[in-house]
Amino acid sequence: MTNINIQDYYSSAKSILPKSLWDFMEGGASDELTISMNKNDFNKIQIIPRRMVNIKQRDTSTSVLGQKIQFPVILAPIGGQRHFHEDGVLGSTIAAESLGTINIIATNSGYSLEKVCEKSKKPHWFQIYHYNKNITRDLISRAENSGYSAICLTVDGVISDRRERDIRNNLILEESKWNANLINYPKLLKNLSFEVITYKTIEWVREITNLPLVIKGIISPEDAKILEKIGVNGIVVSNHGGRTTDAVQSSISALPNIKNAVSKELELYLDSGIRRGMDVIKAIALGAKAVLIGRPILWGLSTSGQKGVENILKIIYEEFDLAMAGCGKTKINQIDSKLVKYNFNY
Ligand SMILES: Cc1cc2nc3c(=O)[nH]c(=O)nc-3n(C[C@H](O)[C@H](O)[C@H](O)COP(=O)(O)O)c2cc1C
Repeated sequence: MTNINIQDYYSSAKSILPKSLWDFMEGGASDELTISMNKNDFNKIQIIPRRMVNIKQRDTSTSVLGQKIQFPVILAPIGGQRHFHEDGVLGSTIAAESLGTINIIATNSGYSLEKVCEKSKKPHWFQIYHYNKNITRDLISRAENSGYSAICLTVDGVISDRRERDIRNNLILEESKWNANLINYPKLLKNLSFEVITYKTIEWVREITNLPLVIKGIISPEDAKILEKIGVNGIVVSNHGGRTTDAVQSSISALPNIKNAVSKELELYLDSGIRRGMDVIKAIALGAKAVLIGRPILWGLSTSGQKGVENILKIIYEEFDLAMAGCGKTKINQIDSKLVKYNFNY
């Protein structure tokens, strides 16, 4: 059977993957309430399309931090992609390039950040977990020297609720499939632990790099305001796909208040729950410059490696283009809050 939508890839990945790996990918914190909210809240948004617009020619392209992308979907940082297919993060990066977008390479990858650059033609972003100052400084300088175009610092996921599926399955991940960037720091690998992140940490990171800085994992408008004052260049409104702390608000319902709290110039991105081209439209209408997709990358990768990720991106691109037409929009900058009606009641 041909996979015609992203849900089809979900089903084929499920039929292929061992249960413990499937659960690791799909699972979330505690009762997985946030995972359901991420999905349900997209369904609470309705579209008010415009008609009698000439929608024959459409331009889906936009830019993120000044970098042009063919459509407003970028690939979320996902650690351990090599568990799902040997192509791993190399495959997802090449897939992103072939569809004219960018990948955010995770610190916890099965191929080193330098190797990804050797294989790719365009600059991508590099995601960092703050283990400690020495390692963060070193990772940033490695990313700068290799030609990455932005640093994405993840501030959630430092301490997570338990992922009970993983505990029940006795999950053990293979080090070689996620630690290619960390083998330079053998002491860390012996005792893997994160240092606490405060606003001071963000100020420090801001000072040590001239690359654009994006902070990932923000749900509170207050946090967003302070980050803007510190001078970050972008924020990913995200609850980590429901994987870190349960009962956290859905990203899509958090977006409007965050949009209101910051200036127009600050780029906002959104992830957690994007599964359709129309979801991308909804996020842009509520204030996102672009969205990140997470688990669907792994569904594509598990099914057929790089080709699978390419297909996932093609599907979401085609759905997005058609959704633009259906909304009466020919350019991204025409998508605004007048296009949507929603009542999240929070
Ligand atoms: C298996 C898995 C590994 C992940 N690893 C990372 C990571 O290393 N760094 C990070 O910032 N986010 C990580 N994330 C979170 C994603 O970047 C993203 O926020 C989330 O998957 C978006 O939600 P979605 O899966 O509903 O699209 C991971 C997510 C999954 C499913």
